Amino acid sequence: MIKINENFLELQESYLFSTIAKKVADFQSKNPDKKIIKLGIGDVTRPIVPAVVKAMKKAVEEQGKAETFRGYGPAEQCYDFLKEKIAKFDYKKRGVEVLPDEIFVSDGAKCDCGNIGDIFGVDNVVAITDPVYPVYLDTNVMAGRAGKYKAETGTYENMIYMPATAENGFVPSFPEKVPDMIYLCLPNNPTGTTLTKAQLKMWVDYAKKNKAIILFDAAYEAFISEESVPHTIYEIEGAKEVAIEFRSFSKTAGFTGIRCAYTVVPKTLKGYTKSGEEVSIYNLWNRRRATKFNGVSYPVQRAAEAVYSEEGQKQIKENIQYYMENAKMIKEGLQAAGYTVFGGVNAPYIWLKVPDGMTSWEFFDKLLAEANVVGTPGVGFGPSGEGYFRLTAFGTRENTLEAIERIKNRV
Ligand code: MLT
Repeated sequence: MIKINENFLELQESYLFSTIAKKVADFQSKNPDKKIIKLGIGDVTRPIVPAVVKAMKKAVEEQGKAETFRGYGPAEQCYDFLKEKIAKFDYKKRGVEVLPDEIFVSDGAKCDCGNIGDIFGVDNVVAITDPVYPVYLDTNVMAGRAGKYKAETGTYENMIYMPATAENGFVPSFPEKVPDMIYLCLPNNPTGTTLTKAQLKMWVDYAKKNKAIILFDAAYEAFISEESVPHTIYEIEGAKEVAIEFRSFSKTAGFTGIRCAYTVVPKTLKGYTKSGEEVSIYNLWNRRRATKFNGVSYPVQRAAEAVYSEEGQKQIKENIQYYMENAKMIKEGLQAAGYTVFGGVNAPYIWLKVPDGMTSWEFFDKLLAEANVVGTPGVGFGPSGEGYFRLTAFGTRENTLEAIERIKNRV
């Protein structure tokens, strides 16, 4: 008899964005004449920039000729041409030393954030901020670290939830119980808020003191506009001893449909056996990758490399600017309409307070029915997200402006 992984039975309903997609599809089928504007899932709308298209086409041509054809690439990391660019442009330029060999290129930060759990014991105590990108929680539920779901509180018995709400300025406090694994996403999805270097340093020091690891998701790094905000956790002294960093080309360069990301696992990072012996985390991740992954396709790696070319940088920055103008318009438009709004300055997400007396799903339904605009209910990101709602700045300009007008006039 085949036994299932019963941890999966502890998962709540479907994945958040699948639930939303289903609700929207139901509404559209009952209201075929309505033009729905989707500002729910953070999917980009600007096309791939010309420098990237050119590089990808060239790489495809190379694959069609015997002299330049390439089969399997290096499975553990990626081609040298890409890891060297990443190390130089994303780290060295910021005064941070990350070795090309510490960079593992993959098909997505979502996959990496989930897969990284393979190398950590199931008895580790996990801390997440609340609200949180659901992948950190759900993958720990699947692994068995989260324990049983408690319907009364909407939380899992073994997880540590660190609230980040307007009350604490979206700065989570250190939990009472000491965690072994700490997920931080900065700039934050979903709240669009972030921490200063000084605040992040406190987390690095805390992890060091407790021999914990920080799983640092920096997928929205490219959207930072304020000086005091770190672009990488490795700007903080000591972080290479306690942190893994996840980065993505999805939002930075419009790769949501192309798929490319990377994870930095410093060679200095140590984990421990039950008896307290030190083990290289780098070696474990390298070993996992060699066994379970065959690398990202050559044309996609060439596409990612082109992001770092002079024209690639200029072109992607124009798109980032475009989205951040959307963010500013949403923020100012909603503020003018009387909403309390957060985020949108260092991140492409706007986090707003839903009107008093409504739950975030009620606001979702109202917005869909009355303005035909889709957002993401805050509670879908965790219990402390109740009473909040997320809008993405990744829409087209036209749709963004229309959505703001509809919310102002109809809701
Ligand atoms: C989001 O909307 O939170 C993100 O687009 C989801 C993701 O990046 O996987």
